[in-house]
Amino acid sequence: MGKSSKDKRDAYYRLAKEEGWRARSAYKLLQLDEEFNLFEDVTRVVDLCAAPGSWSQVLSRVLIKGEKFGRAGWEQKQKETRDYVLGVSKSKKSVDTAAAGEDGGAVQDVKQAEKREGVRIVAIDLQPMSPLEGVTTLRADITHPSTVPLMLQALDPDTYSAASPTSSPSAPVDLVISDGAPDVTGLHDLDIYVQSQLLWAALNLALCVLKPGGKFVAKIFRGKDVDLLFAQLKHVFARVRVAKPRSSRASSIEAFVVCEGFRPPEGFKPSLEKPLGAGTTLPVPDGTPGATQPSRVVRADGVVEIDLGDESEEEGVEEGVEEGGARWIAPFLACGDLSAYDSDATYALPKDRVSLDPVQPPTAPPYKRALEMRKMAGGAYGKTKGQERKEA
Ligand SMILES: C[S@@+](CC[C@H](N)C(=O)[O-])C[C@H]1O[C@@H](n2cnc3c(N)ncnc32)[C@H](O)[C@@H]1O
Repeated sequence: MGKSSKDKRDAYYRLAKEEGWRARSAYKLLQLDEEFNLFEDVTRVVDLCAAPGSWSQVLSRVLIKGEKFGRAGWEQKQKETRDYVLGVSKSKKSVDTAAAGEDGGAVQDVKQAEKREGVRIVAIDLQPMSPLEGVTTLRADITHPSTVPLMLQALDPDTYSAASPTSSPSAPVDLVISDGAPDVTGLHDLDIYVQSQLLWAALNLALCVLKPGGKFVAKIFRGKDVDLLFAQLKHVFARVRVAKPRSSRASSIEAFVVCEGFRPPEGFKPSLEKPLGAGTTLPVPDGTPGATQPSRVVRADGVVEIDLGDESEEEGVEEGVEEGGARWIAPFLACGDLSAYDSDATYALPKDRVSLDPVQPPTAPPYKRALEMRKMAGGAYGKTKGQERKEA
């Protein structure tokens, strides 16, 4: 499949190249932000599974450069236009930018918004990541306990002491985001299982650094029993919702869980050696109305059943609780402007259009070694000498 064909079949892939994003995933975070206002009052963020770095780019542009996107960007343009027309502002630049607004499908931006003080962004991935302005990048495995001290040190380089590593940073973070995905095998159950392990690891890292009231956003695969996972998240977050941005293909099982209002249970000590829920009961914040301590029963067939208690009094039916039952169903929202591109549609492109190269090709993709071996064998990427002769 050529770049041009992919440009037609994947509007967000094309847009990402045109608008300078390293990956089409940038639009997922931007559309989630439009719905949930994720970046409001946020200065310290951890971006897990961050390579090639489009989410970190969004963070850098919003938090460090002070840019606004989507509806916020549009509102800012409108305000600047109004101020210019009414003579409040002398600057015509932003008005010109507004007048020159491009196609409605893209998420438009406006610069010169307010900058934030004390911004810190730490990005972690197994793969190396090219540097980004204001982002500290770490190459590490989020499922490994050794990543915690690395992350804490990156968050507080001045105050962190290796001699007394603690489980929480001196200044905790406002937001943890995770777009973690395994190399998909196509075996749905296996992919969902590995994905849930990544989500679990991301949550445990988030518990180590989030401040009370903080937010956690993570990719999930909507598999069987995913609502059990949401119910567990509900014990440590006041609000848990699931969202599907328009830039995420409707045909994929991917969605994002958006958790707000972190409420660590009293006395809770986060640790990756003894992660949340592993072999023990899940903590429930003291005084949580309607919440009971969950119980864990190992059945004769080895299956572990976790009874999460009855939360129906706390949230009511609108918040996704089945009346009279312990099963809690997270509200599901579609997000992204309706005029935005449909990620499952194919769009015709002008004949003379030049297909752009990706902004940031993978630095060390898992298939790199295979390509190198093939090159050594055949002298050309993608073809061995034998193949070339056969085709000639
Ligand atoms: C969909 S990509 C993330 C895209 C990224 N959010 C962006 O906007 O560019 C998924 C990433 O998860 C990373 N990943 C998978 N397992 C991981 C692990 N155990 N630890 C750290 N990163 C992991 C992969 O290396 C891959 O870069």
